[in-house]
Amino acid sequence: MTDKTYSADDVKAGAPASAPEDLVTWVAQVATLTKPKDIYWCDGSEEEWTRLTDEMVESGMFTRLNPEKRPNSFLARSLPSDVARVESRTFICSEKEEDAGPTNNWADPKEMKETLNKVFDGSMRGRTMYVIPFSMGPLGGPISKLGIELTDSPYVVVNMRIMTRMGAKALDLIGEGQEWVPAVHSVGYPLIDAEGNEREDTTWPCNDEKYITHFPETNEIWSYGSGYGGNALLGKKCYALRIASTMARRQGWMAEHMLILRLTSEETGKQYHVTAAFPSACGKTNLAMLQPTIEGYKVETIGDDIAWMRPGEDGTLRAINPEAGFFGVAPGTSYDTNPMAMDTMRANSIFTNVALTDDGDVWWEGIDAPMPDHLIDWHGNDFTPADAEEGKVAAHPNSRFTVPASQCPIICPDWEAPEGVPVDAILFGGRRATNVPLVAEQYEPAHGVFIGASVASEQTAAAEGSVGSLRHDPFAMLPFCGYNMADYWGHWLDMQKELGDKFPKVYQVNWFRKDENGKYMWPGFGDNARVLDWIVRRAAGEVEAVEGVTGKYPKYEEFNLEGTDVDEETWKKLFHIDPEAWAAEMDDTEEYFSKFGDHLPEEITEQLKKFRDRIEEAK
Ligand code: OXD
Ligand code: MN
Repeated sequence: MTDKTYSADDVKAGAPASAPEDLVTWVAQVATLTKPKDIYWCDGSEEEWTRLTDEMVESGMFTRLNPEKRPNSFLARSLPSDVARVESRTFICSEKEEDAGPTNNWADPKEMKETLNKVFDGSMRGRTMYVIPFSMGPLGGPISKLGIELTDSPYVVVNMRIMTRMGAKALDLIGEGQEWVPAVHSVGYPLIDAEGNEREDTTWPCNDEKYITHFPETNEIWSYGSGYGGNALLGKKCYALRIASTMARRQGWMAEHMLILRLTSEETGKQYHVTAAFPSACGKTNLAMLQPTIEGYKVETIGDDIAWMRPGEDGTLRAINPEAGFFGVAPGTSYDTNPMAMDTMRANSIFTNVALTDDGDVWWEGIDAPMPDHLIDWHGNDFTPADAEEGKVAAHPNSRFTVPASQCPIICPDWEAPEGVPVDAILFGGRRATNVPLVAEQYEPAHGVFIGASVASEQTAAAEGSVGSLRHDPFAMLPFCGYNMADYWGHWLDMQKELGDKFPKVYQVNWFRKDENGKYMWPGFGDNARVLDWIVRRAAGEVEAVEGVTGKYPKYEEFNLEGTDVDEETWKKLFHIDPEAWAAEMDDTEEYFSKFGDHLPEEITEQLKKFRDRIEEAK
């Protein structure tokens, strides 16, 4: 068969007038390689959303939810082989292997390009190639950045419309000559083969062979074979974290896996901004939308997953949320655990791999409503309580909602402030059943970096791997740092030096400690505001801290526990330090750090020594 060819002139003829020459040339090159049947330039309009979602309902990729219960909302079901980020197939293709570091999969850029040229060759045959212009961060903002994703998936287009500022306005900025990042995505399921044989589409096209690749030196992203989440919505993890972290290092800013919230004291009106890093699926969305159980504070959400932070003109560290939507884990989300998220997803939302009720609404394990007598599960099969009794789940553990941030009832009025908000404190957490106290404040800035570097957490379903096992996840960036992790710690130390005492203090938190009966000792959720309250009062110099092994702890009598059932005995257990257990943990941390060889900053080695000295003192 003869494939359609695409010259720059052909592409230009179909492109909006604002598309610049370099973009048109690149689109023509990718189209020549991937051989789509046509090219469509997304404008981000409502009309476009309606047309694409209608088409997807028609093709079976989307199920329209009951418009009375969940207007303008849809359900998609993926294949069981495509349900999460695939870290084993995620590559950093830097010229030198050591620049990717020991925690990333490295591939030689030239070799990877050869592989990609093979798999992308004809990968879009029979499909439309969508050109998605997008901005990460408010359009035109000083911290924001632009990109173009080319994809053969309409599911990606509509998700990107929620997750980014997508469409004509982003293209206009690119047309004005602003820098942009090229990102290419194909599900790897062409509808026509090289011989011209056609095949039917499926409701979740993808390929068993997957490549999620990043070229940090040329700021390129190429993703093949998966249609799911961070593998396919390339503005999120691929751009806003992996590529952005490398740009940030070169340009003196920071791209972090952090939520951003504003806490306002009702008494004084003073605003505090907190960012917090937790490994995937540890409740970042819940914390970002927290409803304080204590009087005196209002929480407003700025972001739930990613923060870009840059020194502002006033010398403070300023943060923006580069995203425009939330791609949250559904199971466990309820009016009890996160009422604000529940209200955010009332309309205009996409659900992936949750269960469908007989009246056309969504359901998942942990939602408020009890399991109905009949559901359609995430495989598309009938599901009854008898299945649940056999231990089966109706919604995949990593099933997701994609919702516009603007619909969040407590979205901060400044969430789109182009210059960002000044950060007052940075939290690091993880799921730790043992050892790690409820909250600890850094001793000094380098200790803050040490706290981030030694984050470890019980594995969740957000990535493939065995759920529950403990893994090191420094800065919650293990799967997201686009360069050598130890150099990234060095970059943090440099930023701290540059900002001096304006650099926010770091706190280690752990909501997940369990008692000897395996029961969580801290109520969590809205009660996490108590920890924020202590942090804020520390900043105001109102409360003291006690020096301990992992950092500085609150005093029981100064910490607001009113209305909880946390008594002094539980408090002690929440802060209990077993020097032997910590000595073993430091042995493990030291071994982990040794992987980084001479990339490991001196200051981190020093902090390890200081930690060990504190353990000795505690023995
Ligand atoms: C996410 C993740 O989807 O961290 O945010 O996996
Ligand atoms: Mn995340």
